[in-house]
Amino acid sequence: MDTVIVNADYDGKQISRDIYGHFSEHLGRCIYGGFWVGKNSDIPNINGYRKDVVEAFKEIDIPNLRWPGGCFADEYHWRDGVGACETRKRMINTHWGGVLEDNSFGTDEFFGLCEILGCKPYVNGNVGSGSVQEMSEWVEYITFGGESPISKLREKNGHKEPWKLPFFCVGNENWGCGGNMKPEYYADLYRRYQTYVRQYGATKIFKIACGPNTSDWNWTDVLMKEAGNFMDGLSLHHYTIEPDWSNKHTATGFDEKGWYIALKNASFMETLIRRHDEIMSKYDPEKRVALVVDEWGMWHAVEPETNPGFLYQQNTIRDALVAGITLNIFNNHCDRVRVANIAQAVNVLQSPVLTEGDKMIKTPTWYVFHMYKSHMDATHLTSSVASNEIGMDNARIISLTSSASYKRDVYTVTLTNASLRENKQVCVKLSGLSQKIKSAEATVLTADSMNSCNTFAQPDSVVEKKGTVKITSENEVEVTLPAMSVLQLTMTK
Ligand code: AHR
Repeated sequence: MDTVIVNADYDGKQISRDIYGHFSEHLGRCIYGGFWVGKNSDIPNINGYRKDVVEAFKEIDIPNLRWPGGCFADEYHWRDGVGACETRKRMINTHWGGVLEDNSFGTDEFFGLCEILGCKPYVNGNVGSGSVQEMSEWVEYITFGGESPISKLREKNGHKEPWKLPFFCVGNENWGCGGNMKPEYYADLYRRYQTYVRQYGATKIFKIACGPNTSDWNWTDVLMKEAGNFMDGLSLHHYTIEPDWSNKHTATGFDEKGWYIALKNASFMETLIRRHDEIMSKYDPEKRVALVVDEWGMWHAVEPETNPGFLYQQNTIRDALVAGITLNIFNNHCDRVRVANIAQAVNVLQSPVLTEGDKMIKTPTWYVFHMYKSHMDATHLTSSVASNEIGMDNARIISLTSSASYKRDVYTVTLTNASLRENKQVCVKLSGLSQKIKSAEATVLTADSMNSCNTFAQPDSVVEKKGTVKITSENEVEVTLPAMSVLQLTMTK
């Protein structure tokens, strides 16, 4: 039997709910057809926002939403997207699919969306092709409550009161699509641009600098050394991309090796966080600056017959395992990782939600976010796993991963079993627990085959179900973890 030991008497840091954030770019059908259908649509909507999509994200307590990109952010000029809709600029989204961008979804619509979702807005500014003045005035438009030409413009557009801006990132992927910069150059630009991200309202703007692409350790070192004192967070982007991507493996079309390679690549997040944290700690041992993993997830070849620039992909139990493994890693590093955003929310890359016309489905990834909700703002507990190594050739991983937390007398342990065939009986021990476990419940997400997914014809093939759990002693329970599964265990004392 495998074992998971949870240190119930460990007083850990709080797991920030913002680790469970989402990302919405003007890319494919994420905004248009995803969150936004417009007020005149036949698809049920609340002032233009898709009702079913909004409800799905409210159900998982979405804590924050990042917008407008991504690469789109460094080509976005906010003034194009405010004012009367008919007069807004129509242009081509050159980065993503060459389609018409009519700017009908802009700043006012984004803040309205966050209001109905009940989540914090996370805005990504433009450094690549935007000016300091433009960025500064955008922040003024959003947050300035006094009288100025810019706040008057907001009032004219129907919003007398300013909004809160809890998160703001100064540029996106400035080492790549955001300007192909060198870290020294970007560090200087960051220092300059962030100076004019003024603090007008009472809500502190958490300023995020563009961080490294996966294992670019030098970028982190230079940014921390040159600009660490001017930032609250440093971003990190890491996608799980199959090395044989050239074979055009889609989300559903892969073999056993593709299963293990993907899960191994997702597990690399552990190494990335440890190493970037080590570098950041040279300059910031107190961990004041957060690591903000604001783009992560699976990146497959697009679904056949869809626009290659739209990055539309299906989502299987393999994606659910990637989500479960990654979120366990974030929870276990909650002292440094305090914001994260899966890419992306709707119809793009590893989406929790997919839409087609007036239909919407929840993907296996959505269920993982649903099951992990109880970790939000809970106290982290350390845990260790004793399990076997599985996989093939150079894609070998430990079968189980775990993370644990505690909130209001409830212990939550989330587990993943990456084995394709082996069901596991797992003994979970709450070490150091002073009272008896009174009750225990498990919820499990699994599937019949490795490429099982939910479709518009069969939306409920992969859904969470009640799991099997037995209290075996004062501080131990036994759970059954099927092959290819993610499990949430809650115990009450
Ligand atoms: O999420 C898709 C793209 O991936 C984003 O626009 C960009 O930041 C990253 O390269």
